[in-house]
Amino acid sequence: MSNGRTGKFIVLEGIEGAGKSRQSALLVDALRSHGVDAIATREPGGAPLGEKLRTLILDPHYSPDAITELYMYSAARRDHLKYIVEPALERGRVVVCDRFIYSTLAYQGYGRGLDLDFIRAVNAATIAPVKVDLALLLDIAPEAGFARKGGADKTDRLERENLEFFGRVYSGFKAMCESGELVAIDASGEKERTAAKIYAAVEKIL
Ligand code: TMP
Repeated sequence: MSNGRTGKFIVLEGIEGAGKSRQSALLVDALRSHGVDAIATREPGGAPLGEKLRTLILDPHYSPDAITELYMYSAARRDHLKYIVEPALERGRVVVCDRFIYSTLAYQGYGRGLDLDFIRAVNAATIAPVKVDLALLLDIAPEAGFARKGGADKTDRLERENLEFFGRVYSGFKAMCESGELVAIDASGEKERTAAKIYAAVEKIL
């Protein structure tokens, strides 16, 4: 069953530097210019409690283990769904979300080694009854992503991780493309070209 009345839930995933936040904004602009009522939001965060949790999760002063991380991301996600995503879908809006459950599989699963079935079970319980209508991977390799960002942000706990970790995360995203959970969009070129590819994929499901 689809979300809300005619609402659609679209997720953009990718590693650091893939351009997700920029592309979320471009996609919402393009949708609005076609008369579609759309909003951009992000995880972790998006809602007041979720944004507070985001600050804690990314704070380099703490070293949560993978299970603690999983529950923190899940708590932020549930709050975001209840207060931002579900109400918007109920009103028939298109919601464009920068990161979602696929990031949990990629980072806490492939990256940190938590059991994938365990994560899938937590994810399913966390998001019910919301369904993802389209999940895109903005596909760019970790080295290229960091080069584009001009290097890692040293104040962000997660960006201090090494490239080996991000290699595992990236391989997780690619595995999800192979299984059909994510649709890959080449994000290595000009941002306008990437935006056009994203819009073409989204248009098909509206
Ligand atoms: P970003 O969205 O600004 O890139 O930062 C969020 C960070 O949180 C990023 O390093 C990916 C990470 N993350 C997870 O590890 N698991 C998750 O479930 C989510 C949503 C994000």
